[in-house]
Amino acid sequence: MKIGNPNISEANNYSSNMPYFSSVGDEAVVEFLTLRKAYQEDNFPDKVDLGLSAYRTDEGQPWVLPVVRQIEKAIAEDDSLNHNYCDNLGIESFRNAASKMLLGEENPVFKEGKIVNAQAVSGTGALRLGAMFLSRCLKLNDCYISSPCFQDHPIIFHAAGFTNCHTYRYWDAVEKNLDFAGMKEDLLNAIEDSVVILQACAHNPTGVDPTQEQWKEIADIMERKKLMPFFDCAYQGFATGDLEKDSWPVRYFLSRGFEMLCAQSFSKNFGLYNERVGNLTLVVKYPSVVNNCITQLSSFVTGLYLNPPHYGARIVSLVLNDPVLFKKWTDHLKIMSDRIKQMRAALKAKLDQLGTPGTWGHVVSQIGMFSYMGLSESQVKYLVEQRHIYLPRSSRINICGLNSKNVDYVAEAIHEAVTTIPDN
Ligand SMILES: Cc1ncc(COP(=O)(O)O)c(C=O)c1O
Repeated sequence: MKIGNPNISEANNYSSNMPYFSSVGDEAVVEFLTLRKAYQEDNFPDKVDLGLSAYRTDEGQPWVLPVVRQIEKAIAEDDSLNHNYCDNLGIESFRNAASKMLLGEENPVFKEGKIVNAQAVSGTGALRLGAMFLSRCLKLNDCYISSPCFQDHPIIFHAAGFTNCHTYRYWDAVEKNLDFAGMKEDLLNAIEDSVVILQACAHNPTGVDPTQEQWKEIADIMERKKLMPFFDCAYQGFATGDLEKDSWPVRYFLSRGFEMLCAQSFSKNFGLYNERVGNLTLVVKYPSVVNNCITQLSSFVTGLYLNPPHYGARIVSLVLNDPVLFKKWTDHLKIMSDRIKQMRAALKAKLDQLGTPGTWGHVVSQIGMFSYMGLSESQVKYLVEQRHIYLPRSSRINICGLNSKNVDYVAEAIHEAVTTIPDN
């Protein structure tokens, strides 16, 4: 199935006898913005925000990682630092440490000179830069995005020049699991030389990842069908608490000899959401093409924003390049991923205790911050309108919105919705 560009209205035609801006359409209303506004305007004291896209502590607060705060204080006191422009492709020590964190420190591609990387304006910016590179330099027009998908993927790929954004099946609503047969069939029928966007771990929005055996089959199909992997890695270390485990599919594809792109985000795993820290890595077959790739990427960066922001990448670089700071950070990752697992278990336990109809094993088998609950749109409407629990129509919840004080309330409300509202 093809998805249209969610940001472009057919009605966006300027006509010369009208004021310029009167033809601007309103198609791009994003559900999450509407949901956030409704949540903010709700005065109910026990309201719950499960639509948010960020980590929260058990007190429901954002968390500045202590290692990040420590570095921020040191930066503030360091008079030798300034605010000069960053290099066009960003801080070299950051880019290289980020690529190594993803592909493995000892991966031979580094010694073999088969890597090109560019610091980007977070994960979204890395996706956009990579997609633009593929569209302009390789003239690729077709891409495949999971269904359901991270809502920004089609927006980004359309904006970058991919005129044909197709979907591949991903979610089996009956089994509340990966639709692996559907996914394989869609990839087998994909147009050759297309780009396939794959999420390395903690798939947004479903929370369902392929197993290692399934990844191997996906790689077989993609090799046979000449499909280019573009990994989106927004949750490394945040999913299981283990950096290596969370990047296994990327490393596996690399071991199979794929040329590929990878976008990394440091929003979630460093809690640096508004500092926009990201990295794009290209793995090429022949080192002789590296300089041309660098030249093209530099020119795209110049046309987009000249050079990336420095502050957040400096923090990440300091952590990734210092064993003591790195250890502290990996301990923080464990705290965040463990809290998510605890909340998954608490929600499932309460639903089981209430005898809520249906199966809820998926709540604990899914991974990362998001969970596709498998509720109907009318059940979601009930939760929002009657119980002040905010979540999108798809019933994707952010587990981080749960805490020890509200998890029973949420489970009871889900129980009520499931037992009183039709399943459609
Ligand atoms: C799958 C996926 N990719 C990319 C991103 C982009 O994140 P950011 O631009 O904050 O790095 C997100 C954020 O939610 C995501 O879930």
